[in-house]
Amino acid sequence: MSTTLITNLSEVFTADAAQSVIRDAAILVEGETIAWIGPLADAPEADTVVDAGHRAALPGWVDSHTHLVFAGDRSQEFVARMAGQDYAAGGIAVTTAATTAASDYDLTRLVMGRAAEALAGGTTYLETKTGYGLSVEEEARHARIASTVADQVTFLGAHLVPAGMDAQEYTDLVCGEMLERVAPYVQFADVFCERGAFNEAQSRQVLEACAKAGLGLRVHGNQLGPGPGTQLAVEFGAKSVDHVNYLDDADVTALAGSWKNWDAATRTGIAGTVATCLPACDLSTRQPLAPGRELIDAGVQIALASNCNPGTSYTSSMAFCVATAVLQMHLSIEEAITAATYGGALALGVEAKVGSLEVGKRADIQLLNAPSVAHLAYRPGMNLTGPVFRAGILVAGKL
Ligand code: NIG
Repeated sequence: MSTTLITNLSEVFTADAAQSVIRDAAILVEGETIAWIGPLADAPEADTVVDAGHRAALPGWVDSHTHLVFAGDRSQEFVARMAGQDYAAGGIAVTTAATTAASDYDLTRLVMGRAAEALAGGTTYLETKTGYGLSVEEEARHARIASTVADQVTFLGAHLVPAGMDAQEYTDLVCGEMLERVAPYVQFADVFCERGAFNEAQSRQVLEACAKAGLGLRVHGNQLGPGPGTQLAVEFGAKSVDHVNYLDDADVTALAGSWKNWDAATRTGIAGTVATCLPACDLSTRQPLAPGRELIDAGVQIALASNCNPGTSYTSSMAFCVATAVLQMHLSIEEAITAATYGGALALGVEAKVGSLEVGKRADIQLLNAPSVAHLAYRPGMNLTGPVFRAGILVAGKL
């Protein structure tokens, strides 16, 4: 298999368990895999040599929470929120109407455009969800379109009860015919367990049915207020609970307990429920930032994700999320990058394949137009993403 040596890297932050930083480094890629990482002085020979121009390197982002399958515009809702209006789950229905009206061709083009934006921003592994369909036909259509673009698709039929429909009747539909129709296209299922969306009993029903169908689980929990979402996620062994803005001590204890058989120093053992923090969403909805610092200190593995969607977080910039996590959530730059790479991979169950720069892993590497990864927070708001490699192939940016 042919080899490529990426040389002249000012530093490599690997996001491995030891949080290794290698200065004046090189990375050898063999086929689609990382074959060697180390000091440039020790670099092996390769078929092709690529000069990185003294840029810093880090793993490609793993964005574990997005809602890219949508049409329409909700900027006026955002403007009203900035003027003081609260966010409410009901806005989802506005997007459902616009998305239902979009043809397959238009919707696919929109999703592909958003995925391309994410890739150009350094995201090399992407999850996205259904959830703006809210009928059997539309949820199945959105799942099918999403599966042609994203690495993983999550079924979120339980996003909102459509107007005029009885909540229990809709929950039964989600757990029955809708689940059956989307199943060929999705790996995970999710439920918006929140005031104005699905209550605890309905959320349980969804999680039980989807687990029985063999799907991995995740929960939108504790976004708008205290509630049962986080504890339900832990109880069901969900891979992640996302948002986590309003956690009480019992929620943090439950999350920490889910990681009791995990050895963070070696990244071995039984993984628990990842707490996925969505700082861009928190800012855009004026919610308190998720307590990422407290969760890490309690022994919980966290992820950072963009939550790109038209209602609460219309950005796929993982760099923005990392900068916010450092500047406002008090994570170190290494913790924030790790949460946006390895943490996302854990939340998606793909940590053996992506999420850190280690020998044997897929060569998903982003180079920064900066000499160190600290610049991600030191120069917030600047587009520092340089060349992006996915599975060893240069897929965005220029060398
Ligand atoms: O993750 N919280 C639920 N779902 C999305 C927002 C959906 C919308 O308002 O369009 C979120 O924030």
